[in-house]
Amino acid sequence: MSKQRVLTGITTTGTPHLGNYVGAIRPAIAASQDQNNQSFYFLADYHALIKCQDPEQVHQSTLEIAATWLALGLNTDNVVFYRQSDIHEIPELTWLLTCMTAKGLMNRAHAYKAAVDANRADGEDSDFGITMGLYSYPILMAADILMFNANKVPVGKDQVQHIEMARDIAQRFNHHYGEHFALPEAVVDDHVAVLQGLDGRKMSKSYGNTIPLFLTEKQLKKHINKIKTNLLEPGEPKDPDTSTVFQVWQAFATPEQTAEMRRAFEEGIAWGEAKKQLFELINGQIGDARERYNELLANPAQIELELEKGAEKARVYSAPFIDKLRHAVGIRKIG
Ligand code: TRP
Repeated sequence: MSKQRVLTGITTTGTPHLGNYVGAIRPAIAASQDQNNQSFYFLADYHALIKCQDPEQVHQSTLEIAATWLALGLNTDNVVFYRQSDIHEIPELTWLLTCMTAKGLMNRAHAYKAAVDANRADGEDSDFGITMGLYSYPILMAADILMFNANKVPVGKDQVQHIEMARDIAQRFNHHYGEHFALPEAVVDDHVAVLQGLDGRKMSKSYGNTIPLFLTEKQLKKHINKIKTNLLEPGEPKDPDTSTVFQVWQAFATPEQTAEMRRAFEEGIAWGEAKKQLFELINGQIGDARERYNELLANPAQIELELEKGAEKARVYSAPFIDKLRHAVGIRKIG
């Protein structure tokens, strides 16, 4: 049986936090170790430009995210790990696809519609502040996926519509120019934990409630101590199922450790003690990676080298494929 091609992109904005780790990075690294998969993971830096126009931030985030994945044990012998902007065939394919994409399809994209709705609610012109980057970003994403004929695309629920759009665009291209593209499928893992943040809402940069992944021990302890709890005293039974401390514990613990903590809650463990144990659990799991992360950040040339090697591997696929696609649409040498 041929391998499943699994592809996903990580937009290079912000600093990775525990929610990214548990929800995306950890499962992706595990999937890359499955011999039945051929994994393509990339830093979506062109996508970053849609949300962030600060060059230093885009650059810094690309560095931090690359270092994070490598530090956590992504094995670049098993996966093709690359930076989107190194693959010049992607923006080229984006144009070929743009000319096959119905404008009406883009009008239906959730991210664009949400921006229009927000403008209307504010009494602004519907197009206020909306760039063509935001508007046509599903086409760039389709190019990311179709460039490598990915079969499976692991994403969060908010991205499923984009995978469906990639399928639509691929089908239209195939219908018009012949069968070039595999039709990708979104993979949404409902078992993956969606981590709560300091305030109990979903951990997200947009809520400002995150715990960055690679803090110093001291800062990690401090952040964990900031997780919101209620005022129950030591000795008073606590409800694990409404507790962020417990929820985060569960995302890192074995089933046995989770059962033990549940018992401790029922027996009235003090919040301070539960947080101390939570710190130790997380720190034990990411301590070694933190060291590698700091080493990598001190040696960015090594990260650059990994990405350049990854780009070379990716271009083994993308370069001949774009030639074939150019030919298919009639862009060919004369004579
Ligand atoms: N847009 C995705 C996100 O914000 C990231 C992404 C870019 C992506 N290109 C992709 C994910 C291709 C899957 C496949 O999460």
